[in-house]
Amino acid sequence: MCGIVAYIGEKQALPILLKGLYRLEYRGYDSAGLAFLNPGLQLYKTKGKVADLETYIEGKNTSGTIGIAHTRWATHGEPNDINAHPHFSQSGKLAIIHNGIIENYAVLKEELKQRGYLFKSETDTEVLVHLIEDIMHNEKTELGEAVRIALNQVIGAYAIVIMSENDPDTLVAARKGSPLVVGIGDGEFYLASDATPIVEYTKDVVYLNDEEIAILSRKQSLTIKTIKNQIKTPYVQKLELSLTAIEKGGFEHFMLKEIYEQPRSIRDSMRGRLNAKEGRVSLGGIIDYETKMKNARRIIIIACGTSWHAGLVGEYLFEELARIPVEVEYASEFRYRNPVISEEDVVIAISQSGETADTLAAIELAKSKGATIIGICNVVGSSIPRATHAGSYTHAGPEIGVASTKAFTAQVTILTLMALRIAYMKGSIEKSRFHQIINELESIPEKVEETLKVDPEIKELARMFTFARNFLYLGRGYNFPVALEGALKLKEISYIHAEGYPAAEMKHGPIALIDREMPVVVIATNRGPYDKVISNIQEVKARNGKIIAVVTKGDIKVKELADYIIEIPETEEMLVPLLATIPLQLLSYHIAVMRDCNVDQPRNLAKSVTVE
Ligand code: G6P
Repeated sequence: MCGIVAYIGEKQALPILLKGLYRLEYRGYDSAGLAFLNPGLQLYKTKGKVADLETYIEGKNTSGTIGIAHTRWATHGEPNDINAHPHFSQSGKLAIIHNGIIENYAVLKEELKQRGYLFKSETDTEVLVHLIEDIMHNEKTELGEAVRIALNQVIGAYAIVIMSENDPDTLVAARKGSPLVVGIGDGEFYLASDATPIVEYTKDVVYLNDEEIAILSRKQSLTIKTIKNQIKTPYVQKLELSLTAIEKGGFEHFMLKEIYEQPRSIRDSMRGRLNAKEGRVSLGGIIDYETKMKNARRIIIIACGTSWHAGLVGEYLFEELARIPVEVEYASEFRYRNPVISEEDVVIAISQSGETADTLAAIELAKSKGATIIGICNVVGSSIPRATHAGSYTHAGPEIGVASTKAFTAQVTILTLMALRIAYMKGSIEKSRFHQIINELESIPEKVEETLKVDPEIKELARMFTFARNFLYLGRGYNFPVALEGALKLKEISYIHAEGYPAAEMKHGPIALIDREMPVVVIATNRGPYDKVISNIQEVKARNGKIIAVVTKGDIKVKELADYIIEIPETEEMLVPLLATIPLQLLSYHIAVMRDCNVDQPRNLAKSVTVE
């Protein structure tokens, strides 16, 4: 986590850095800081959000055409002014910002302490800056080389940028495990954790690879070398990101904008991949691996958080359509379990950010055992797509609200296309059924649009439950992952305790919680185990629980039992998650707004979890 932004060139750095920090705030927001050279090192940092930093620096000396900035999500040391980045070296001449974790920091710190270094903060980052200075001093070497030597001693993950008072024409950056993008302007360079702080200044970017060091100098073109001292030719790519995609566009919050974007994001995820008229589904990114997928002994889906919920929908899809056994694993559990994996297994790794540390590590583990790895990611050029054999981007566009919404429905869309494609190749689905499903899938963006019309009703509903203390979400079959996702959304942004459960499992425990105070959201659409869900509703009703039911338009049976009804358009059972999730996103959103919570940046969370 943590957001990094840096600039060197002719312009004043401050506006670029501040704007960049606001864009990266989704990565962490417990403290923030900036440093400039003008000509001495000026450092400003404070606990709190970027807005607090902006207030803090008012009237201070912030001029300078070279600078580094950071927004933090604490790992080592509580969020306070001292632990905020940048950190200074002992002499006060070097300043560093860092995203990641130095795992052997305790050993390095001890050694440095014995050599007389004093530590101000509790961070692992300060160790790194002292180490670099120590090497510069002992080896009589310049900054870039000292960084290279230091990184050879470091175990862990990092994206770092360092600035030196003795060399005001250079920034040195490096990455391993945490993302870093270089923007190349006219006589200037930008650096950031993702491309959003760069997009309005230049479209030419270089994504650094693991263990690469970039030297950004006013005097020469971009130099990249590895920590083993191999010179690399920078691979300059054109950014496709647009500025409007990362702005709120008139919505009060990014989350609401992203919920409303879903007709578009689902359509974009299907564009060029689904052609219902011609009866064709094809995913260019996995073409070379389709046969491998078709013949897979087993599919293992690995992911975290919301992406894991999408994976659960994927399990139902692949098993029903392609008749391949599927396991869905939390990446964090999978990687430490010594799992049984063979070359006939296909792993599908799902990640919005493409940077989640646990998912990345699980991929490396499965790869080392010979499995084929397919990625489903949203952020182009991120680490996971580069670590996989093949994959499909979700094309949902930048997701800035920390709670994931449009990324989930885009992931489910891709999983549906993949399962359909493999089923078609395998012949495990009748042609007529295949056509029926893809015709319906094509109409989903319109049905999502129609579903969004329930927003005003949901706002009213949210008013009634603003101060509920607990919520239960129930669903069966394809709607079980929807229940999990609904509950996760509510707890993430409103801090109300919520649990998602398979409706039938309720009687094995959660039923004990039900009383007249307990709102129970049941996804009870008209296909699949509809009658069974009705029995579960009756069980809740008998204990006076308040039922909010998501039903298919025109439903009669559930209407008679439920206290509140949310209607969604009729669709195929396997496509219901794409619609049923939407009212639950809206319900969480409105409750959170009414509780005065910070919807886009909920407490303690971060969007890109680059630590274990
Ligand atoms: C964090 C985010 C979640 C997200 C999860 C997995 O916890 O707050 O919204 O679902 O990470 O992230 P990924 O980028 O791998 O999908």
